[in-house]
Amino acid sequence: MTAEIIDGKAIAEQIRGEVAAQVSRRRQAGEPPPGLATVLVGDNPASLSYVRGKQKACREVGIDSQGFHLAEDTRQEVLEKLLIDLNADPKVNGILVQLPLPSGLDEEKALTAISIEKDIDGFHPVNVGRLAMKRRDPMFVPCTPSGVMVLLQKTGVKISGARAVVIGRSNLVGMPTALLLVRENATVTICHSRTENLPEIVRQADLLVAAIGKPKFVRGDWIKPGAIVIDVGINRVEDAGAKNGYRLVGDVDFEEARQVAGAITPVPGGVGPMTIAMLLKNTLKAAEMASIKK
Ligand code: GUN
Repeated sequence: MTAEIIDGKAIAEQIRGEVAAQVSRRRQAGEPPPGLATVLVGDNPASLSYVRGKQKACREVGIDSQGFHLAEDTRQEVLEKLLIDLNADPKVNGILVQLPLPSGLDEEKALTAISIEKDIDGFHPVNVGRLAMKRRDPMFVPCTPSGVMVLLQKTGVKISGARAVVIGRSNLVGMPTALLLVRENATVTICHSRTENLPEIVRQADLLVAAIGKPKFVRGDWIKPGAIVIDVGINRVEDAGAKNGYRLVGDVDFEEARQVAGAITPVPGGVGPMTIAMLLKNTLKAAEMASIKK
């Protein structure tokens, strides 16, 4: 069997087009453009590149983005003061604090300072708490996990009743993805660095989400024939032949897995573009909610 390749780039492009059309309709109706504030602390190269990508994507769909770049040694009070000012700024509908923050800053305190109406990353503890509760709805769902769910829905796979395995329990990806899968009635197992007999558990998965950050960690013979594999990993591995001296690989050994899986996301071009598309969608949603409130 050779797996269907799930084209995240094309699906993300479609979502970006829908957001752009909606932003343009808003403009014609005399509404201001949605506004996103990105907050980056320090100069982590991967974070810099992610934030630039997010700002560029905003421009392309007509969302106003303002970037705030703070020094590595910024004090907690300064960061929180900025977030409180942004909460009060009517031109800002969404606030994104790029993670990880430099050591010394309290991530939870910073994320809690963001108003839940502007928490387009869905990382505020109230939004995460609502995601974990029955009959509660978060204002926003984290972007990468909601992108994973869209990719699963687009493959047409039945999630309800399926056995899902999520490898990774991070606040950003693993845990919220597992919660979303439970909300869609999957039977979910969350695996992590202390899991015993990992390959055996992964072999039971109809749906596999790999979010561990280790290149080619999941091998082809761990995968149940026909399973749907969503690879969240974006790992840089040295490659002397590549332009930048590195190339990107996922958490799954793609060449092995594609021989066994029913469908699989590539890296790059799978989950990555979906994260940005969902961010744009969440920012538009925040702007729409702010318009209704006015
Ligand atoms: N760092 C890695 N992924 C993300 C994300 O989706 N949002 C933010 N704010 N930081 C991240």
